[in-house]
Amino acid sequence: MYRNVLCLALGLIIGIRLTDFFEYLQLTETYFGSTAITQLEDEATPQQPTEEELARWLYNETRVLCMVLTMPKNHQSRVKRVKATWGRRCNKLVFISSQEDNELGAIDVGVPEDRNNLYLKMRKALEYVYQNFVEDYDWFLKADDDTFVIMENLRFLLYPYDPEAALYFGHRFRTTYPQGYMSGGAGYVMSRDALRRLNLFAFNNSQFCPINNLSEDRQIGFCLQNVGVVAGDSRDEEGRERFLPMSLKFMLPKFPTTNWLIKLTFYEPANETGSTSGISFHYVKNHEFEMYEFLLYRLRVFGTPLSQRSLPPRLDPKQLQNQLYHWSHENSTNPNAWLN
Ligand SMILES: *[C@@H]1O[C@H](CO)[C@@H](O)[C@H](O)[C@H]1NC(C)=O
Ligand SMILES: *[C@@H]1O[C@H](CO)[C@@H](O)[C@H](O)[C@H]1NC(C)=O
Ligand SMILES: *[C@@H]1O[C@H](CO)[C@@H](O)[C@H](O)[C@H]1NC(C)=O
Ligand SMILES: *[C@@H]1O[C@H](CO)[C@@H](O)[C@H](O)[C@H]1NC(C)=O
Ligand SMILES: *[C@@H]1O[C@H](CO)[C@@H](O)[C@H](O)[C@H]1NC(C)=O
Repeated sequence: MYRNVLCLALGLIIGIRLTDFFEYLQLTETYFGSTAITQLEDEATPQQPTEEELARWLYNETRVLCMVLTMPKNHQSRVKRVKATWGRRCNKLVFISSQEDNELGAIDVGVPEDRNNLYLKMRKALEYVYQNFVEDYDWFLKADDDTFVIMENLRFLLYPYDPEAALYFGHRFRTTYPQGYMSGGAGYVMSRDALRRLNLFAFNNSQFCPINNLSEDRQIGFCLQNVGVVAGDSRDEEGRERFLPMSLKFMLPKFPTTNWLIKLTFYEPANETGSTSGISFHYVKNHEFEMYEFLLYRLRVFGTPLSQRSLPPRLDPKQLQNQLYHWSHENSTNPNAWLN
């Protein structure tokens, strides 16, 4: 009788402990993503999350607000196409325009349409997004209305980095100031802290971040540099670019193919382009939105092995600091050593 009670008590205790342990595992999984998932697998738990499951989890873990720079004359064409294709996969999608359209999600930032006003428009957009959404999202992407972004691969790139680090990514160009800037057409993505710094310390400072009608990407890059936001390296393990400032047809099989791009691009191009974890491409025209959507998300080649990647671990504060230190010492005003 006593023995049975004892067994029951022991069983309960062990049961509770195991439940704790299981909860602990789930908790660490939530906090550390793949690390815990790999550990779980090492302990002979049969299910490893599929890439599909990881991507679904990542959607809420690495939240991205997308700002698409456009104008009223493109509302019924490009804007609709962006919204129906890659824009659906943003956590929040805002079209930056000079005419409001609630159905499309377009806002009027109050800047007249003119090629020279793109930088001003973008500043207004960044103010709007900061005032309304800074705490609700982790990363803030700027794209053009002829950019196509593979949001899943963007989140895969961003996951290791704390959005409270002063950091941004894109296709890096050289210029006259040390850090260089990210191509506007390929799209660039800044952390929550970068957005905060721009709004608190750059936009009110006419030296750090002057108002002018120079090109949008170069000016935003200048402001970001001056408030200590580091330009990150977004290339893949093989040194292939993941944000492409041109359309795919100009980048395959060799990149870069045009003179202006050779001079501007910061890193030595890999001999082969077309990263298998590519993120964006530019100069997307008309029905090409639907074409890319079909090729990327629907068409399957019979017999092609599915990849099975896990998420890279999150960088701890020390690792992050080292990484940022390393990146912040690259200098865009030095000549391209690979160019000759
Ligand atoms: C993401 O979070 C939202 C809001 O909390 C929730 O409604 C949605 O189901 C979540 N999606 C996924 C894929 O977990
Ligand atoms: C901009 O605003 C910040 C925060 O309020 C303040 O610390 C800084 O002095 C301001 N800069 C200028 C140039 O006014
Ligand atoms: C920038 O604006 C000024 C006047 O505000 C104008 O004179 C100049 O032509 C513009 N620059 C360019 C590149 O259009
Ligand atoms: C590209 O190929 C050339 C010639 O084969 C080689 O010298 C160069 O190091 C390669 N560059 C990269 C980035 O792999
Ligand atoms: C970048 O390189 C240029 C040219 O070598 C040099 O004059 C400048 O001081 C460097 N800047 C930084 C921040 O290292």
